[in-house]
Amino acid sequence: MTTFLAEWANILLRWAHLVAGIGWIGTSFYFIALDLQLKKRAIMNPGVYGTAWEVHGGGFYHVEKYMVAPKELPEDLIWYKWEAYLTFITGFALLTVQYYFNARAYLIEPDLWNARPGDAILVSIVSLAAGWFIYDRLLCRTAIGRNPTLLAVAVFALIMLFSYTFTHIYSGRGAFIHVGALVGTIMAANVFAVIVPNQKKIAASLMRGEDPDPALGAMGKQRSVHNNYLTLPVLLMMVSNHYPILTNHPQSWILVALILVMGAMARHFLNRHEAGDPLQKIWWTLPLAAGGLAVALVMTAPAAREATVDGVRVTDADVLAITARHCATCHAEAPTHEGFAEAPKGVMLTSIDQIRQFAALIDQQAVQSDAMPLGNETGMTAEERRALGAWIAAR
Ligand code: HEC
Repeated sequence: MTTFLAEWANILLRWAHLVAGIGWIGTSFYFIALDLQLKKRAIMNPGVYGTAWEVHGGGFYHVEKYMVAPKELPEDLIWYKWEAYLTFITGFALLTVQYYFNARAYLIEPDLWNARPGDAILVSIVSLAAGWFIYDRLLCRTAIGRNPTLLAVAVFALIMLFSYTFTHIYSGRGAFIHVGALVGTIMAANVFAVIVPNQKKIAASLMRGEDPDPALGAMGKQRSVHNNYLTLPVLLMMVSNHYPILTNHPQSWILVALILVMGAMARHFLNRHEAGDPLQKIWWTLPLAAGGLAVALVMTAPAAREATVDGVRVTDADVLAITARHCATCHAEAPTHEGFAEAPKGVMLTSIDQIRQFAALIDQQAVQSDAMPLGNETGMTAEERRALGAWIAAR
């Protein structure tokens, strides 16, 4: 019953998390594009910095941007903040249901750190909080924060430090989801603790007819720029757990670095393109992104395959013995492993026909990578993986 309810909580939270995230990133992309496309017109209202004409859904919109608030701000000023807060709340709840409730299956990798679930979870929570603290207090608000390039390098180094640590203590997918969660936490906290409060202070001083402290706006801008460049990498980190080719690579932390570079370069290209920069000015981002992709392709290229193990063919019976020992507790019509009510993803591995049917996926999950068995609870050996690979290659 608890497995059943946890599964539904997982479905509903994942759904809500996607919806909130689309809302957040959608508004963020929209406002960045709007901001970059504002134009000064011959006739504009006093205090207006630029305007844009837009068409959508059967109507025309004329948007004006005021750098200083107009004489009176309306009561019904629209704030965009709940998209960010709800993305964080649903994301953390989903992390709890998926990775904390099933820490042994999804988070813990006994070969790396044979943690008790409580300890693995404690480290998870502390590291998310510590990541934000270091980012906010020790980087953005110090002398480093006054130099945008230095700060960008420092933030990259911070994410790499956590990536290296996560990939050396947690399972592949657990580590990648934690890099995503760390970046997502920083982004949501930027909205909650800096961007929105500063905007409120600016609005309040304008209402009093005073000049707002320019540091407030500058700090908000610094955080929005970070959020802008982190959106693309964070999305790939969040869906990475479908791809053991990424999460279970022995040097997966380097893949995280490449994802950050590719995502940030693609975002920079799109930003500057939206701002109207010609291709001659922004082309350099593309070879950098392509270079990152090329390195990732080389790193993850499949190893050469042999159809035998030391010249001996692997029989169907050998393969069935391996899957019975390492897979069938979960991948069976009626799993015996605790926490699994039915075969995960409908993948059943109890007969040779079923194993043939899923051979390509088995190859990805248990031969090319060690994503399965989850957490390698059963201690599957490299020889067994080789045997499985040889049988698949010889089919
Ligand atoms: C402890 C339970 C457990 C064991 C043992 C286990 N798996 Fe899995 N397997 C899962 C779960 C859970 C999923 C779904 C993962 C997800 O949600 O992405 C899965 C998914 C898969 C998939 C589908 C992947 C996809 O993305 O469609 C394959 C193939 C697979 N496992 C193969 C194996 C093989 C081969 C073994 C044995 C070497 C094995 N599994 C052992 C729990 C297990």
